Amino acid sequence: QLGLKTKRFGWNVYDQESVPSTQQLAHQLAHEGAEEGTIVIAEEQTAGRGRLNRSWHSPKGTGIWMSLILRPSIPPQQAPQLTLLVAVAVAEAIQEETNIIPDIKWPNDILVNGKKVAGILTELQADPDQVRAVIVGIGMNVNQKQFPNDIAPIATSLALETGRTFHRPKIVQTLLQKLEQLYGQYLQHGFLPIKLLWEGYAVTIGQQIVARTLNGAIRGVALGITDSGTLKVQTEDGAIHYIYSADIEIKKQ
Ligand code: BTN
Repeated sequence: QLGLKTKRFGWNVYDQESVPSTQQLAHQLAHEGAEEGTIVIAEEQTAGRGRLNRSWHSPKGTGIWMSLILRPSIPPQQAPQLTLLVAVAVAEAIQEETNIIPDIKWPNDILVNGKKVAGILTELQADPDQVRAVIVGIGMNVNQKQFPNDIAPIATSLALETGRTFHRPKIVQTLLQKLEQLYGQYLQHGFLPIKLLWEGYAVTIGQQIVARTLNGAIRGVALGITDSGTLKVQTEDGAIHYIYSADIEIKKQ
């Protein structure tokens, strides 16, 4: 039904009409031993979740609300690399389907004209030294013509940016193809080639930023990302900080 061109990703599909959250269902399936490449996709989420305990607006039939199960043999510390990998896959899929070149704001925001068109939520099931499963949630705003007032200033959709309507299964197909290709490359050659691709889309690097972490805010210049996928920030006193997870505000220069 999805017209898949992938070898493994997306062949085991849980295609749902309405779920609280595809992420929640994927967690459950992964726990029960679902194989790598299993996806959960839904027309509607009634309790979609974003990063940092935010909700994710997921109205019926308009976007792509999907979770993918991966089972890489990596230590948990390397998991942020997968968020960046998925961000590249989403950016490439958008570029291929729309000709728009999106921006990636570290770690996981996909922006078009400064507004968010897609987000990624990477969660782990892991032992202290080994990942059991990575649940990658992808939310992409595709055919929405408008957004609720509270997110309208910061959200956009492919339809709003292009004036076109998109066939979502085609985008899912392209997205899975990109994901499978980049993931294969990652398992074979490591993170470096992915990092280079990521840097090609990144808007955060070289900018004055404020990184809001659970331990407070850090202001400085984003120097780049490290080989493990953390953000390297230099504060005014010259100190270097490595940020694992945060909300980034890019300061206008
Ligand atoms: C973010 O930018 O905060 C991440 C948003 C992730 C949303 C997706 S939609 C599919 C999956 N299921 C969820 O409940 N969340 C993710």
